[in-house]
Amino acid sequence: MSADRIDGKAFAAGLRERLAAAVPPFQAKTGRVPGLAVVLVGEDPASAVYVRSKGKATIEAGMASFEHKLPADTSQADLLAVVERLNRDDAVDGILVQLPLPKQIDEQTVIAAIDPDKDVDGFHVANAGRLAVGQQGFVPCTPLGCLMLLKDKLGNLSGKEAVVIGRSNIVGKPMAQLLLGENCTVTIAHSRTADLPAVVRRADIVVAAVGRPEMVKGDWLKAGAVVIDVGINRVPGAEEGKTKLVGDVDYASAAEVASAITPVPGGVGPMTIAVLLRNTVVAAYRRAG
Ligand code: GUN
Repeated sequence: MSADRIDGKAFAAGLRERLAAAVPPFQAKTGRVPGLAVVLVGEDPASAVYVRSKGKATIEAGMASFEHKLPADTSQADLLAVVERLNRDDAVDGILVQLPLPKQIDEQTVIAAIDPDKDVDGFHVANAGRLAVGQQGFVPCTPLGCLMLLKDKLGNLSGKEAVVIGRSNIVGKPMAQLLLGENCTVTIAHSRTADLPAVVRRADIVVAAVGRPEMVKGDWLKAGAVVIDVGINRVPGAEEGKTKLVGDVDYASAAEVASAITPVPGGVGPMTIAVLLRNTVVAAYRRAG
């Protein structure tokens, strides 16, 4: 078998178009466009690239982007003051504080300071709790993007065996909650799981979010499984001195066994920013009442 390639890039482009189309009616109703504030502390080059892409995508969707760049030695009190100002700013519907933060700042304290109704990352404990009990809130962008791709591919997920590899607060745990909400039978596997290949072999749906390059092999999969690869790992490339991106799944062997699989790059990655824009539009409409 050769698996279908799940084109996250194309799906994300379609979602971004639909979001851009939701902006003019919002503007007609409220006299303003949805606004996303992104806060970057320090000079981490990878974070700077992400923040630039988020700002560009926000503007391309016809929304307002507010970028706050603070020096690496910013105190926690100063960052909290910025967050509180954004909480009170009516032009701001979504607030994202780019992680990781410098070591003098406690991430959980900063996340807790964000108004949960502007927490478009879905990282606030209030939103984690809402997801856990099935209330309306905000869901972290990457797992929500994975769920959209799965539903687009499979339709109804009810009764499927799903294995999520990875238990982070940002991907693994919310992914498992979302799949449970779709009536899947969910297993969360992680670095201490005994006989991981045997656990993965049970799955109709595999979501790999461990950060280990090409760890999941084709012979770990049940024939016809649908595989969502959240990993973005930079490894040495074929050419001397060059690097390439690979996922947490060994694409070549997995594509022989799976029925569908996301590539890296071009799978889950482009969904994250598209869902961030989606959460911002949703926040704007909810705040407008
Ligand atoms: N750093 C890497 N990914 C993310 C994300 O989705 N949100 C935030 N706030 N920081 C990140």
